[in-house]
Amino acid sequence: MTNLPRPPYAGTRYPRLAEVDAFRDWIAGGWADEPVAPDLAAGAAAAAAEHRARLGERLPDATIVAAAGVAPVRNDDASYGFRADSAFVWLTNCQAEDAVLVMTPRAGGHDAVLFLPAPFRPGETGFFANALHGELWVGPTAGLGAWAEALGIEVRPLAEFDADRLGGAHFSAAAARRFGVPASAELERAVSVLRMVKDPWEIAQLRQAVDASVAGFAATVAEVPRAIEEGLGERWLQGTFDRHARTLGNGPGYSTIVGSGPHAPTLHWVRCDGPVLPDALLLLDMGVEARTLYTADVTRTFPASGSFSPVQRDVHDLVEKAHRAGLAQIRPGTAYLDFHFAAMEVIATGLHDWGLLPVSVDEALSPQGQHHRRYLACGIGHHLGLDVHDCSQAHYEDYMGADLEPGVVMTVEPGLYFHAHDLTLPPELRGIGVRLEDDVLVTETGSEVLSDALPIDAAGVEEFARRQMGAR
Ligand code: GLY
Ligand code: MN
Ligand code: MN
Repeated sequence: MTNLPRPPYAGTRYPRLAEVDAFRDWIAGGWADEPVAPDLAAGAAAAAAEHRARLGERLPDATIVAAAGVAPVRNDDASYGFRADSAFVWLTNCQAEDAVLVMTPRAGGHDAVLFLPAPFRPGETGFFANALHGELWVGPTAGLGAWAEALGIEVRPLAEFDADRLGGAHFSAAAARRFGVPASAELERAVSVLRMVKDPWEIAQLRQAVDASVAGFAATVAEVPRAIEEGLGERWLQGTFDRHARTLGNGPGYSTIVGSGPHAPTLHWVRCDGPVLPDALLLLDMGVEARTLYTADVTRTFPASGSFSPVQRDVHDLVEKAHRAGLAQIRPGTAYLDFHFAAMEVIATGLHDWGLLPVSVDEALSPQGQHHRRYLACGIGHHLGLDVHDCSQAHYEDYMGADLEPGVVMTVEPGLYFHAHDLTLPPELRGIGVRLEDDVLVTETGSEVLSDALPIDAAGVEEFARRQMGAR
């Protein structure tokens, strides 16, 4: 401390190294030049180019601005980990923070320019003075030329981007947030609609995400005995999956849900501050987001003991029956919502048989009834891709009201959620929650359940649980 200069720094928080001539000269030299390649998966550049071409065809006269965005502030000067905006990633497969894509119409297509924050290399003041982009802080990063070569498009320094000169352009939601202008609903809708049909490269990413998630399920279930015996609780399991997701991919694609016993019926139980109860059900809704940012979204409900009680099994069996009825509807040409109606009919019939509905099955299923939804209030499927609830800006006629096409990837996820304090239920059903969630690809001839490495029948679920829990 005694050697720190006081004036002229008194009244500021610390001396600024950038103003120390000797330091600046000294740190500028003596660094080996080690070029870094852009972080780009095989095939990613071609896939992004194809996506830009499809968007250009859909909006031929539009100037389009998409942005990666910046990491949100967590507290004080700490940020959350950066995750690039999905529309931007779909168009570029670049994940650089604060990057901006501009597509300008010309005859027969669009010219694309990617604006990137230039890395601060040795010799530049920012190398040590800029905590966001200085390589001393964040490590070596690919330069603009390397990105241009890898993506096959023009790349320019972000400093040259001027949002004010783009009046009339269509800004994506993330670009609008970044530059303080209204977002283009037309652009958001167009990108959502185009993203509904995945190309082979995207399907390969989703397969990777699902496979990594299956591995994460195995590792997480293997920790159940320890979570019980050592009192580590739901959070230990949540942390176990998240560690796998971060290791095998970019991280969890959404907040990992681990609900034991009475927490299982709570749809988004991400607090995970409870114990893992040895005789209760354990609902795990967990998905790995691949390094390319495509995510899985999978749910299984396990008996923590390794064996379902008779009543737990009955609930699981009914959900399985609804799930299979939903899956059976998934093929090209069926209406998107057919899986929903098929699964709901099974659920309503089952609940009626158990005496839980105050009306007939037909009355419950009618739009004016919906009594069964008391125990299943959420949606039971959605498109899946770069976002867990993918393509969310598409309108009804493009999504819910559309027919299925080859290349669509969606979840099917019926469940039953019997809350512990629901007085309409017999006591033995209270506090039981079951969801079965698979990721399904619509193929040319039918469908493929990408997550079918995880069983959906009660015996298979028990067998999986016992195998993993015994394998510690
Ligand atoms: N995990 C969120 C969902 O299933 O939609
Ligand atoms: Mn889902
Ligand atoms: Mn889910």
